[in-house]
Amino acid sequence: MSSDSSTNQQWGGRFSEPTDAFVQRFTASVDFDQRMYKQDIEGSIAHATMLAKVGVLTNEERDQIITGLRQVEEEITNGTFQWSVELEDVHMNIEARLTQLIGITGKKLHTGRSRNDQVATDIRLYLRAEIDLINEELKRLQTGLLDLAEREAETIMPGFTHLQTAQPVTFGHHLLAWFEMLKRDADRLADCRKRLNQSPLGAAALAGTSYPIDRAYTAELLGFSKPTENSLDSVSDRDFAIEFCAFASILFTHLSRASEELILWTSAQFNFINLPDRFCTGSSIMPQKKNPDVPELVRGKTGRIHGHLIALLTLMKSQPLAYNKDNQEDKEPVFDAVDTVKDCLRAFADMIPAIEAKKDSMYESAKRGYATATDLADYLVRKGLPFRDAHEVVGRSVAFALEKNLDLYELELEQLQQFSDIIGEDVFEVLTLEGSVAARDHFGGTAPNQVRQAIARARTEMSPW
Ligand code: ARG
Repeated sequence: MSSDSSTNQQWGGRFSEPTDAFVQRFTASVDFDQRMYKQDIEGSIAHATMLAKVGVLTNEERDQIITGLRQVEEEITNGTFQWSVELEDVHMNIEARLTQLIGITGKKLHTGRSRNDQVATDIRLYLRAEIDLINEELKRLQTGLLDLAEREAETIMPGFTHLQTAQPVTFGHHLLAWFEMLKRDADRLADCRKRLNQSPLGAAALAGTSYPIDRAYTAELLGFSKPTENSLDSVSDRDFAIEFCAFASILFTHLSRASEELILWTSAQFNFINLPDRFCTGSSIMPQKKNPDVPELVRGKTGRIHGHLIALLTLMKSQPLAYNKDNQEDKEPVFDAVDTVKDCLRAFADMIPAIEAKKDSMYESAKRGYATATDLADYLVRKGLPFRDAHEVVGRSVAFALEKNLDLYELELEQLQQFSDIIGEDVFEVLTLEGSVAARDHFGGTAPNQVRQAIARARTEMSPW
């Protein structure tokens, strides 16, 4: 029985009726996967080049295909290309147009491959290029943090645990904590890129192909480190997409933590920083308002990023080998994650260097809340008191000061001496904020001196690639 002439051109041979119009739209991916057209064309050029090398295509056919594909690329880039939902996806749209342009030779391009290895190749190439852009933006943010930390190496602010004043820290030190989070994110991104950068091309539908293909050659042409090992795994593996979303999820956990602090710090109650107006918006009803929309939105977008990770994990869970149509659902989460990561990193990289620290206000805040109580205990320990007893003495001093509505450094020497007679005039040196931060002068500590050394180290070892 011959097929109905209105069935699909690419695979309609065994079909006796055309696809239902709704099913056609339901199963098509062209609306979103056209984003990968450049990668699809690069993959096809590498494939055709390899087919000519091993003698499956003539050099003439290869050149015709390459010229045709470059023309298709030009049409897509300049917006004249007609995408068609009947042709389902980016791969078949491009191949059909190629055949229109160069005739019968276009139909030879698909020799020895399948859309299954083709799409796996495209999405790896796409994500690799985006990862490189994201890495640049991440580095820009990291550099901005280091520059700000350098300016604020001596600025004193309260450090918190349980969001209660704990001990004084330098603002530079706080910013370097954010830097460390991002450094681990950059390492994870580099690690994701390493495993992603292998070529599935040649796995064909699932079992490989009977043509004498050279997979190492296509891998090399496309800049992959090597071909993937197993054809079944090659067409079904989407770990790299999951890993990218895992990287993005942890990154956003960090960005949302930083956002939360920025939002708190811009409030009148904290009053630690000013965000320039260009990063804020106003209220249509309350004329006094200046809202920190940029960090709020980054904090909010964390939800969709975490959602994409869960979507991909769930997509891949329980899939039998090898390719299943389910895999088409990998693209939208990956694309949206890429866009969101790029936008939010850009917003942060622009905003961080523009932060204005309100040093006096931070300093006043650190002076409230008994931030140097631990320093007093350490002082007593140096004078011979066991730490637990010192803790008790300071606790009673704080209770006394609280009752008088004073801070520790505001008490008279005689008042402090009621709780321990080993307290001398020199106690006031340790009760100052400057003394407290300067004393934490060891690797990883908050002393301005350590902050400067940490910045110098960070600048030399910042980028994993
Ligand atoms: N649009 C498909 C996807 O994104 C391409 C691969 C289709 N393969 C197939 N055997 N139907 O996964």
